[in-house]
Amino acid sequence: MTAQIISGTEIAKQIREEMKQEIAQLKEKHNLVPGLVTVLVGEDPASQVYVGSKVKTCDALGIYSERYDLPADTGEEELLALIDKLNKDPKIHGILVQLPLPKHIDATRVLCAIDPQKDVDGFHPVNMGKLMIGEPDYLPCTPHGIQQLLIRSGTQISGAEVVVVGRSNIVGKPIANILLQKKEGANATVTVCHTGTKDMSFHTKRADILIVAAGKPKAITADMVKEGVVVIDVGVNRIGKTAEGKAILCGDVDFDSVKEKAKAITPVPGGVGPMTITMLMLNTVKAAKLAAGLA
Ligand SMILES: NC(=O)c1ccc[n+]([C@@H]2O[C@H](COP(=O)([O-])OP(=O)(O)OC[C@H]3O[C@@H](n4cnc5c(N)ncnc54)[C@H](OP(=O)(O)O)[C@@H]3O)[C@@H](O)[C@H]2O)c1
Repeated sequence: MTAQIISGTEIAKQIREEMKQEIAQLKEKHNLVPGLVTVLVGEDPASQVYVGSKVKTCDALGIYSERYDLPADTGEEELLALIDKLNKDPKIHGILVQLPLPKHIDATRVLCAIDPQKDVDGFHPVNMGKLMIGEPDYLPCTPHGIQQLLIRSGTQISGAEVVVVGRSNIVGKPIANILLQKKEGANATVTVCHTGTKDMSFHTKRADILIVAAGKPKAITADMVKEGVVVIDVGVNRIGKTAEGKAILCGDVDFDSVKEKAKAITPVPGGVGPMTITMLMLNTVKAAKLAAGLA
């Protein structure tokens, strides 16, 4: 069996087309333009690329954007004062603080300072708690993107054995919580593996849906999965550079061998990555609608 490739690039394109129409209607009918602000502290090149593509996507969709690029030595109090100002700015519906923050800044304190209504990353404890009890305003972007990849590729989620490798707060824990809810597009039996798991293969081999977010290049090999599994590879690992100096990327799954056993699989790049930014835009539109009493 050679797997169907689940293209995040294509699915993200579909969702963006749907969103463009909704954004145009919000403007026409309600004079409402969703607004997103990005806040970057320091000069981490990968973070600069991520922020750049978020701003570009806002422009392409008709979302108003503002960008704050602050020096690496910005103090925590200064950053908190900026967030306080943005919390009160009616043009801004979503606030995104690009992680990681420099070590001298307490990231948890900063994320908790964002008004939960403007927390379009979905990382504020209020939004994490709402997700857990099945009443989310915002789903965190990468896990939401994963759920959409499964739904839009026609994968049966209800009743499936889902195994998640990784328990980070941004991917593993929230995707496990999303998929175990008693809801459409969920209702799965979920197992979460991590470095304390005794026999990981025992679990991964049982998976109907395997979601891997470990940050370990090609850690999942063909002998660790069963025939017909659907694989979502969240990992983005830089494993070298091309002659032109471009990063060579690979996922956490050994794509070439696993695709021969899987029913469907996401590529890296072109799988989960494009969905994450798209879901950020979706949350920004939702934030604007919530602020205007339209959702
Ligand atoms: N495409 C996207 O939009 C996107 C978004 C977010 C992240 N990512 C990528 O996804 C990957 C994971 O990122 P993250 O931030 O979720 O993870 P993270 O914070 O680095 O945590 C990794 C998790 O994987 C577990 N783990 C690591 N090695 C393992 C192993 N050999 N066996 C079992 N579990 C193992 C760790 O277990 P312990 O808890 O026991 O340490 C931890 O829970 C990274 O490559 C990242 O770049 C991609």
